[in-house]
Amino acid sequence: MQTAQSIYYPISLDEIKARVARKNGRRRGLFNSKLQQIDLFNNQPLDNVKEIVNEFKEKIVRVDGEIPTDLIVKDGDRFLFISYTQSILTHGLHKYPAKFFPELPRWLIKRYSKKGNLILDPFAGSGTTNIEALLTKRHSIGIDVDPFSRYLSKVKITPLNEEELQSTQKYLLRLILNYKPSKVSEKDIPIFPYRDNWFNKEIIFELAYLKKIINSLDTSEDIKDFFKICFSSIIRSVSNADDNCTRTVIRKKLNKKVYPADALKKFAEVILISVPKMIEFSQKCPMEEMKIAA
Ligand SMILES: C[S@@+](CC[C@H](N)C(=O)[O-])C[C@H]1O[C@@H](n2cnc3c(N)ncnc32)[C@H](O)[C@@H]1O
Repeated sequence: MQTAQSIYYPISLDEIKARVARKNGRRRGLFNSKLQQIDLFNNQPLDNVKEIVNEFKEKIVRVDGEIPTDLIVKDGDRFLFISYTQSILTHGLHKYPAKFFPELPRWLIKRYSKKGNLILDPFAGSGTTNIEALLTKRHSIGIDVDPFSRYLSKVKITPLNEEELQSTQKYLLRLILNYKPSKVSEKDIPIFPYRDNWFNKEIIFELAYLKKIINSLDTSEDIKDFFKICFSSIIRSVSNADDNCTRTVIRKKLNKKVYPADALKKFAEVILISVPKMIEFSQKCPMEEMKIAA
């Protein structure tokens, strides 16, 4: 009879890469088909604003994708904005409650400021405004009372070295393939209230392993912080809590299934998706420019 270890570990990286390729293909398809004519960061004339009538016979201005800088806004106008860029670059790096869709701050920044101006978001949250300010070549400041918001925003707007990112990703994937529960000791596992209700036993071991290998990385702190955010982004999905509820609750009726190896698989998937996006962000907002801006 096979043991749990031999059934679930090592994970298959090929399977995960195939899933990531399918997801990226679907995203690219949607993006290209809907937004062919739209130049994200420049003011091109667009034909994506239409007046529609909804099921209650109300007139609504529907804007598909990029919001034209000179969009006419009259008193009483109602808008339906369709966003296609919520997960481009570093925008989709981590969930955050009530995130802006990026087109909104991008529109306002371009409408009311010029390149080189300073943009302030006093309730920065996950840093959507700050990312858009940098992409549109403005300086930016974000303020937030929540330390996690500040940490997440810092990661999302800090360009990273491509080679270091890629070699660290490769190194982490190798360690994930080498995972065995015996590589985790009791002292690696944090103790907190209701831990064993929130997480299955195998998942606790896998998360402890992922945390340990990230903490022991011999890289810059910025690279480590990026992978810590990737790690944090999978925790809810591999817990027994409802993924879609703002409050953290376990819904027995939902009968959520989490299987051994899910934390390793999800983390591998997240870094395969997020590293190229961080590289793309870093190319658009290179460190040299950030230093000049500072
Ligand atoms: C809805 S979120 C902003 C989300 C953000 N627009 C984004 O796209 O991610 C509101 C933020 O305001 C912050 N906040 C609430 N009261 C605050 C205060 N008095 N000072 C600073 N930040 C505050 C919260 O911590 C939260 O991160």
